[in-house]
Amino acid sequence: MKLKVNSDLCQGHGRCYALAPELFDLDENGHAQALDIEIDESNKERANLARLNCPEGAISLRS
Ligand code: F3S
Repeated sequence: MKLKVNSDLCQGHGRCYALAPELFDLDENGHAQALDIEIDESNKERANLARLNCPEGAISLRS
């Protein structure tokens, strides 16, 4: 599975990056992009923490 940030929903709150900087990048406007990293048992907890803490619901996990 991979993380995906919906750029139409992201408002730049930055919580994803604060909680899991190894899984996201922020652009110059503070909007997040998910890094191209496979989400497996080793990082799933962090991925879900970031996903569930986005106030806009912009982050999803996709296979
Ligand atoms: Fe955007 Fe949500 Fe992260 S609004 S910067 S995806 S916490």
